[in-house]
Amino acid sequence: MELYLDTANLEEIREIALWGVLSGATTNPTLVAKEFAARGERLTWDGLRSHLATLCELVGGPVSAEVTALEAEAMVAEGRRLAAIHPQIVVKLPTTEEGLRACKRLSAEGIKVNMTLIFSANQALLAARAGAAYLSPFLGRVDDISWDGGELLREIVEIREVQDLPVRVIAASIRHPRHVTEAALLGADIATMPYGVFKALLKHPLTDLGLKRFMEDWDKVKP
Ligand code: G3P
Repeated sequence: MELYLDTANLEEIREIALWGVLSGATTNPTLVAKEFAARGERLTWDGLRSHLATLCELVGGPVSAEVTALEAEAMVAEGRRLAAIHPQIVVKLPTTEEGLRACKRLSAEGIKVNMTLIFSANQALLAARAGAAYLSPFLGRVDDISWDGGELLREIVEIREVQDLPVRVIAASIRHPRHVTEAALLGADIATMPYGVFKALLKHPLTDLGLKRFMEDWDKVKP
């Protein structure tokens, strides 16, 4: 399973990319808005274009950028503009009727589409049939309403296998390290997670304690 960062923050990408385990990144309008607000910058098309291009260079893999248009024709136009920014851009579209129509058209043009806001197996099936390259079921938000995000992912991965659909499944809306383990066990192709979860994947108190003891013992005998 590949590991992506779910962020529009360049520092976070820079840091995690150094680990050598980062395969891609996903963004959404909330994450991009948060990033520009934090820097006190007004969001302009030129600013967004240069931000996404830098993000692509830092990641060195696919970067999902979401359209904000809600109508198919406008989604297609925005998707083409986003895809033209960098060859690594994947156009993210909401799983709505308009989103499906836009997905079909952009995919036919060879533009990779990530269908987002997936909360049911049937939405995933529709998105795959519309030609999506990636499906993004939202585990955390399903768990938030006391349903089972893991079960949703399990169904989607199984449908992809049984139906032999040429689509990659991204476990999204990851909230904690256990979600990542669960996604890997269930056969997700990718897990996209916030910076904090990425950092938490590595942390274990016994690793820190073990290293401390090794160093203390070493210090006792070293010349
Ligand atoms: O980018 C899509 C998804 O990962 C959002 O996660 O935590 O806002 O539900 P979250």
